[in-house]
Amino acid sequence: IFGAILLTWPRLLTIGLLSASFCHLVSCQIRYSVPEELEHGAFVGNIAEDLGLDVTKLSSRRFRIASGARKQYLEVNLENGILFVNEKIDREEQCEQSAACFLHLQVVIESPLELYRVEVDILDVNDNPPSFPWSEFVLEISESAAPGSRFPVESAHDPDVGTNSLRTYSLSPSDHFTLVVQSRSDGSKFAELVLEAPLDREQQRSHQMMLTAVDGGMPEKSGSAQITVSVLDANDNVPVFEQPFYKVRLLENAPRGSMLVRLNATDLDEGSNGDISYSFSGHAPLKVRELFSVDSRTGEIRVKGVVDFEKASVYEIYVQAKDRGPSAVAVHCKVLVDILDVNDNAPEVILTSVSTPVQEDAPPGTVISVISVMDRDSGDNGNVDCEIPHNMPFQLHTSFKNYYTLVTSELLDRETVSEYNITVTARDLGSPPLSTRKSILVQVSDVNDNAPRFLQPSFSVYVTENNAPGASISSVTASDPDSNQNAYLSYSILEGQIQGMPVSTYVSINSDNGNIYALRSFDYEQLRNFQIRVQAQDAGLPPLSSNVTVNVFVLDQNDNAPVIVSPLPKNGSVATEMVPRSVDAGYLVAKITALDADAGQNSRLSYQVVQATDQGLFSVALYTGEIRTIRRLMDKDATRQRLVILVKDNGQPPLSASVSIILSVVDSVPETLSDFGDLTLTQESPSSLTLYLIVSLSSISFIFLVAIIVLVFKKSNINLQISSGAKVPTNCVEVNGNSALSQAYCYKVCLTPESAKSDFMFLKLIDALYLLQGTTAMYYRYISLPSFSLQTSTCVDVLQ
Ligand SMILES: *[C@@H]1O[C@H](CO)[C@@H](O)[C@H](O)[C@H]1NC(C)=O
Ligand SMILES: *[C@@H]1O[C@H](CO)[C@@H](O)[C@H](O)[C@H]1NC(C)=O
Ligand SMILES: *[C@@H]1O[C@H](CO)[C@@H](O)[C@H](O)[C@H]1NC(C)=O
Ligand SMILES: *[C@@H]1O[C@H](CO)[C@@H](O)[C@H](O)[C@H]1NC(C)=O
Repeated sequence: IFGAILLTWPRLLTIGLLSASFCHLVSCQIRYSVPEELEHGAFVGNIAEDLGLDVTKLSSRRFRIASGARKQYLEVNLENGILFVNEKIDREEQCEQSAACFLHLQVVIESPLELYRVEVDILDVNDNPPSFPWSEFVLEISESAAPGSRFPVESAHDPDVGTNSLRTYSLSPSDHFTLVVQSRSDGSKFAELVLEAPLDREQQRSHQMMLTAVDGGMPEKSGSAQITVSVLDANDNVPVFEQPFYKVRLLENAPRGSMLVRLNATDLDEGSNGDISYSFSGHAPLKVRELFSVDSRTGEIRVKGVVDFEKASVYEIYVQAKDRGPSAVAVHCKVLVDILDVNDNAPEVILTSVSTPVQEDAPPGTVISVISVMDRDSGDNGNVDCEIPHNMPFQLHTSFKNYYTLVTSELLDRETVSEYNITVTARDLGSPPLSTRKSILVQVSDVNDNAPRFLQPSFSVYVTENNAPGASISSVTASDPDSNQNAYLSYSILEGQIQGMPVSTYVSINSDNGNIYALRSFDYEQLRNFQIRVQAQDAGLPPLSSNVTVNVFVLDQNDNAPVIVSPLPKNGSVATEMVPRSVDAGYLVAKITALDADAGQNSRLSYQVVQATDQGLFSVALYTGEIRTIRRLMDKDATRQRLVILVKDNGQPPLSASVSIILSVVDSVPETLSDFGDLTLTQESPSSLTLYLIVSLSSISFIFLVAIIVLVFKKSNINLQISSGAKVPTNCVEVNGNSALSQAYCYKVCLTPESAKSDFMFLKLIDALYLLQGTTAMYYRYISLPSFSLQTSTCVDVLQ
């Protein structure tokens, strides 16, 4: 307390002096000045002394202080009359911002009642720093604000007054802002931020500054607050593509929805100012819009259609990006899409020309077809190799790329392979490779290079004699591996002679089917076998032919009866044989000899007695024909014995002949040979000499006949008639002849009306006529063809 008094003493003294004089002038009013914020007991003034009161009587006179304030800030020590601070006085509380602050005290003294007024001037002490309402505050400024713009900031407040009050503001250093402090008309200060440099939210979205308010006290006090300038976005940035130019590669036939590229444009702005939407640029062609899609939000470019390398190998996609802020500007970007080829096109095979059928004798190297291949793919995917199977007589030649010729590599044979199905395989070099097959059907056309072939090297035909003329006796078949007319066969019989007669008078052949017909009835006894040659000829140009031998064997039939050769009847009488009466049993009386023209069993003869004067006297040996006596002859036996012997062959049915023989029993045998004067034959047979003569005559006649036939051919008028006077029908030739041997023959040749052409057939042929000496027996032989009529001959008994 004492110190405080000491400290304030010089001032108090002056104040006290001033107060005293004032007291004297104006009914004693005193005034003290005391700084605020003094502690309890601090000395304010010696009020008793200043009022001229007796200190000792203060209590008795009931000295007291009354003040209008709620609180008793000041108190007087009644013992020494000193006014002191009772409670700490806060000037700012008491007087707020008033420049002068007084505590008015009323001093009351009784006995006598005296009233004094005391003014205590509360002096300001710089006890308050300037303060801001918030320790930090946010200022929002658009980044588009122009430099020089001012933004008022919150003022600080200092309850102190006078020089202790707020003096100025200051700002921490900033690149963008400065502070301007201004005074209002009442002298109070306020500060404004001045934008010095343009703001860029995209560079710095907020700026922090410290604003400090300083008062004028000694020492000065300050208070500060943090200013945060938040930069508000303006749509001042356009989107920027990550790359100005995108280059992507895409496999053709990429499935729908495959992503090509994700565009990434960035916009430094925020909110809708930075919200980018992607789309095609205005000049993106329609084709591109059909094939690709752009996701407006994500910027993904995806495949929408079918991408075909063969249609276009590169696409340029123009896209744009635009933010959604006001007055947005679009930026453009190009995406270059290289389409990569995929081996998706199989090669194509084009047969430019096909020459088929090809002749089987075509020389190797003959061009069958010209083949061109193409593949729409590129690179190896479009390089094509062509091949055909190796096991065929064909080759592929290539002279320049993608063109091939299909040629024969060896001789063809239609009879082995008549057509080739050549599969041409074209395969590209892609991976995996694609291939195409095309079949070329090459037909081999026939060339007459094969002669007909008979199924057997030779044929044997067996015909029973006396066969019906015109019947089929056999057939031959040939085959020809060629085709069509080159394999169309016709059969014919080659010219030749059989026993001096043309073969064509013996047999004929059906030219279509090879059936062989006998033209006459064969006689085993005359002709046992013969050969003909049959030719088969195809209809090719030139024709080819081959021939085969057909051996015809005539089989025997029992058509000849036995002929008795001995004993021969003599001059129309029965043969007679002498038998001596004295002979013993078993005596060989005679031997019957017979012949049979047939063969085998048909000519195996047996003899038997069919009639006898005395059955028990003579027997004939079954196979030898020997007549022997059975017993001795008796005197009573007749001298003239007659035997009839039957000679029978072994055929089926058997044929027979019989002979009568007279046996004369004589007492002595004469030296002469037996006499056959009385023999009579039942059937005559030509001697073998006669037979030979007939054959040779027939041959001569045949030659003669041939000469006539030639004549007939040469004459246009076929009404030729060479005749010795006999009446014959037209179209017939009658040939008569005589010989010195008293044998006559007669041939008659007739032509059919249809055979006016060179086609010439015998209708009827009387081939032989036998006339035996002493008889008028005559043999006619007819051969007739089925389709022709049979005519009997008018040629009879030439001799007569
Ligand atoms: C776009 O690019 C920016 C900056 O390069 C990157 O941060 C962001 O992840 C990208 N966005 C996409 C979707 O790739
Ligand atoms: C040829 O061969 C091919 C394949 O082997 C087949 O498809 C085609 O039908 C054949 N052509 C003929 C005419 O046989
Ligand atoms: C018949 O064939 C033989 C051999 O096959 C041949 O030598 C002959 O000339 C042929 N004859 C005719 C008339 O074709
Ligand atoms: C045949 O008989 C007749 C009359 O009997 C006779 O004239 C003739 O000479 C006889 N001929 C022979 C060859 O015996």
